[in-house]
Amino acid sequence: MKTIVLAGGAGFLGRLLTTHFRARGDRVILLTRSPKPRRDGVLETRWDGATLGSWVADVDGADVLINLAGRSVNCRYTAARRAEILESRVRSTEVLGLAVARCVRPPRVWLNASSATIYRHATDRAMDELDGEIGHDFSETVCRRWEATLEAARTPFTRKVALRLAMVMAQAPGSALPEFERLARFGLGGAMAGGTEYVSWIHADDFCRAVDWIIATPDLAGPVNVCAPQPLPNADFLRELREALHVSFGFPPARWLIEIGAALRRTESELLLKSRRVVPRLLEESGFCFRHPRWSEAVRDLFGLEPLPAPSLQAG
Ligand SMILES: NC(=O)c1ccc[n+]([C@@H]2O[C@H](COP(=O)([O-])OP(=O)(O)OC[C@H]3O[C@@H](n4cnc5c(N)ncnc54)[C@H](OP(=O)(O)O)[C@@H]3O)[C@@H](O)[C@H]2O)c1
Repeated sequence: MKTIVLAGGAGFLGRLLTTHFRARGDRVILLTRSPKPRRDGVLETRWDGATLGSWVADVDGADVLINLAGRSVNCRYTAARRAEILESRVRSTEVLGLAVARCVRPPRVWLNASSATIYRHATDRAMDELDGEIGHDFSETVCRRWEATLEAARTPFTRKVALRLAMVMAQAPGSALPEFERLARFGLGGAMAGGTEYVSWIHADDFCRAVDWIIATPDLAGPVNVCAPQPLPNADFLRELREALHVSFGFPPARWLIEIGAALRRTESELLLKSRRVVPRLLEESGFCFRHPRWSEAVRDLFGLEPLPAPSLQAG
């Protein structure tokens, strides 16, 4: 049994990991700004994501620290929100570094969220950890500062990994999947803005398994892409989704229409239209095997459908 501290663990990914770790009998402690009593054995401890406090005692002696804290990026990027998006990530990472440095028994490993959006908009080639190109727009800058803060933390007894996360797909609130499903069911799930922008994604099961793998693999340190090995253009991504949902038609919205839709929904079109063509080189080279490497199969699994039969080989 391990003790695992999930900072910012009351959100979508924290809920997935809590269920995963609890099913295995691990002890889970969540750091949250609004702790609630629970009956499932999970402990919620108050922190503010910015300053040291009594919560440091929960980190001391834990086996694994995972930081998922950060203001949601699903909003309009006003100046105030941009500052909050950046600061909530940098400050939580900074203060966790100070906490780990104070521990008598520091965690062996610290996984800090980052994002696959750190790479530049790419349709031309896949981006991996070794020769991917890091971008310079707002989201990419947030990720760079986030990862730089992790790297700067002085924690000599703790292995640090930045999880460059692709969209984690689950039938659960907080995942992008229910949003895509809604679009498709309304007949709006056609190729977006020409359909050539890539979507990087990972099935929730593989996300949890990859987290386990990284925890157990001492050679993995620094940035690690956590995404399925086959990103695909949004035209194909949405076609496979419609097929799984038995929706025959998907209106293909032009870029300007997506801009208007995003403004009406008080969010940013970048979340849909940035091309993320990211591959998990370090996970695969270290021997990780994906259970759901292809979207065509993963999406059927996510909607509880049987896998399609493999094409039969012609004799002779
Ligand atoms: N979900 C994905 O597919 C995905 C993909 C790429 C990257 N990521 C990154 O992974 C992290 C976790 O994702 P998620 O989907 O679990 O996000 P989430 O559901 O929004 O949860 C994030 C948690 O961060 C905490 N938080 C929010 N604002 C904060 C602030 N100002 N200061 C301190 N803590 C704050 C909240 O915890 P409390 O309110 O309980 O304090 C919240 O539950 C995020 O940083 C996200 O950007 C996620």
